Amino acid sequence: MAVGEAPGKLILFGEHSVAYGQPALGVALSKKVRVSLRRGEGRVTIRLAEGLRFPSDTLAAAPGALVKAALGADAEGIDADVLIELPPAAGLGSSAALAVALLRAKRALYGEEPLPFDQLLARAIAVEDLAHGRSSGLDPAISILSNVVEFVRRPGRTPRSKAELKVKTLAPAESFHVVVGVLGHHGGTATRVRAIAQLKERLGAPFDAAMRALGSTARSGIRGIAQGDLETAGRAANLAHGILSGLGLVSDEMEEIVRTARNAGAVGAKMSGAGGAGGAFFGLASDIRMANDVLTAIERAGAIGFVETAAG
Ligand code: MEV
Repeated sequence: MAVGEAPGKLILFGEHSVAYGQPALGVALSKKVRVSLRRGEGRVTIRLAEGLRFPSDTLAAAPGALVKAALGADAEGIDADVLIELPPAAGLGSSAALAVALLRAKRALYGEEPLPFDQLLARAIAVEDLAHGRSSGLDPAISILSNVVEFVRRPGRTPRSKAELKVKTLAPAESFHVVVGVLGHHGGTATRVRAIAQLKERLGAPFDAAMRALGSTARSGIRGIAQGDLETAGRAANLAHGILSGLGLVSDEMEEIVRTARNAGAVGAKMSGAGGAGGAFFGLASDIRMANDVLTAIERAGAIGFVETAAG
């Protein structure tokens, strides 16, 4: 038997605008996807951690299809056992984590050395394309590096190697807490990515200006976190949320719960990931007491929540 695992991710800044050449910042989560592979007959078992549920619609990519894509022609001779600790179809990177965990486990099954970053990223992007239509590579890059990650890619073509990207880990000047929340499901990343591409066609210049503004909030957020100025990062997150809302990526319920997080004391709060019908959001907190207040408030309002800490 061979095992592979990879963490989910939370995007702090840069969802969607990353595909248009703007910078992004994300953080790996402590919740993971764990995969065990053994030689067998192509049986795939997928389990979700307690309390989690798959969405009832069919818009999100089916994990079974991702397993087949990652294992390729060998799928029929391998049994796969998958445990997903992340709420699926929420924007927390379960597809990318599944792709990376599977590719790692497959190498281990054949007794091969782990793949270097570039090659693992290129293969994970190819698998994740099933879920994202055209993955920017952001989610698998965060999952592979398992850290706080800054990411920029050329607009247009899907990157196939590190040379086409700027990816680096960021060391926060001070520790901070991220209250991660999930409210429902986002309804499919590929669907949202397509809707945003159509909006670009329709709007033209104002769309491009919105992307530049999202890039600018991301740069402020990155500077804020790098320099220990969480207040600036929080305000940049609030502004980015407003722009993403204008792009049609924030439902009424999401708008309300993001406000709940701010009212409970979060330094800033924002939707995260593909967005649309529901999905992930976060509140930034400078200390654990603030984080627990925000967590209590969003849980009372119906979200699944947990706290992640980025060490400074
Ligand atoms: C989804 O987690 C992030 C998007 O920007 C898509 C991508 O970057 O592949 C919406």
